[in-house]
Amino acid sequence: MRTLSDYAQLVEARLGELIPAAPPKRFAASEMPWLLADSMRYSLLAGGKRLRPSMLLAAVEMLGGDPNDALDYACAVEMIHTYSLIHDDLPGMDDDTMRRGRPTNHVVFGVGQAILAGDGLLNFAFETMLAAALRRPERAAAGLSAIAEIARGSGVTGMIAGQALDLYCERERIADVSALEAIQRGKTACMFLYPLRAAARLQNADEATLAALTDYGTAFGLLFQATDDLLDVVGSAEAMGKTLGKDAASGKLTCVSAYGVDGTRALVEAQHRAAVEALSGFGERASFFVQLVDGMVSRTH
Ligand code: IPE
Ligand code: IPE
Ligand code: MG
Ligand code: MG
Ligand code: MG
Repeated sequence: MRTLSDYAQLVEARLGELIPAAPPKRFAASEMPWLLADSMRYSLLAGGKRLRPSMLLAAVEMLGGDPNDALDYACAVEMIHTYSLIHDDLPGMDDDTMRRGRPTNHVVFGVGQAILAGDGLLNFAFETMLAAALRRPERAAAGLSAIAEIARGSGVTGMIAGQALDLYCERERIADVSALEAIQRGKTACMFLYPLRAAARLQNADEATLAALTDYGTAFGLLFQATDDLLDVVGSAEAMGKTLGKDAASGKLTCVSAYGVDGTRALVEAQHRAAVEALSGFGERASFFVQLVDGMVSRTH
């Protein structure tokens, strides 16, 4: 069985190919300017955990496919995730100065270029997936369905929706648990469950498989954000690679602000059980996903 680090290495290598290093410093039409490539690579190749693309690849493999055939879709998911982090850290959003163990994109390149690095990663993600679909005309319908899932997950009813509500509740000091659930489903769970659904689409999986992966991805994502909220309070900044203690300082609506540390730990346990249960029908074939969520319960980074 492949491990998270096996999948992450595949992603790492392909991302480096898709956005090559240091193009020449020149003004030329129809090529990616050096500063855009530098700023996109700065955040993209900064050593993220690569959870979302690895889960897409593992789901493809669990459903009988070859992860190499899905690699550009996985890389696109990581580009979208990285764009969301660059924008999340901007002064007008969470205003953070550390990410993935290094100064945030806008600290190094300036706010304007950081916005463009995010825009660039978002657009290039779709360029990359559409090119992959067009290269395989016999699988184009499956590819398009996968792209539609990824677009929805990162879109205006998914991640962007969650981010909008997150900022709204912070600004308006709203402390409502139904708002919290909407925020965390959108901003975090959608970025796990829709890439898993994309894997199912690439493999032409049935509705029961789609539903099982949706349930797993939702529980995994809610658990993941609950542990992120916990680690903001009890974690190590060095291990996390970002400044901690920010959520309470900015009055963010989080699991910890709503349920306290012990209540959040109980929620993590409940989502852990839900995630494992969601894939019970797959038996041994789901062992990558069971081990992955087991490891998230007590994660330190
Ligand atoms: C950070 O995601 C954003 C949240 C949803 C909490 P990750 O913790 O997966 O970040 P990287 O990709 O490993 O840097
Ligand atoms: C970020 O949630 C979610 C997205 C970027 C979509 P947070 O704001 O809690 O993530 P961190 O703590 O900055 O990584
Ligand atoms: Mg945020
Ligand atoms: Mg943030
Ligand atoms: Mg956080």
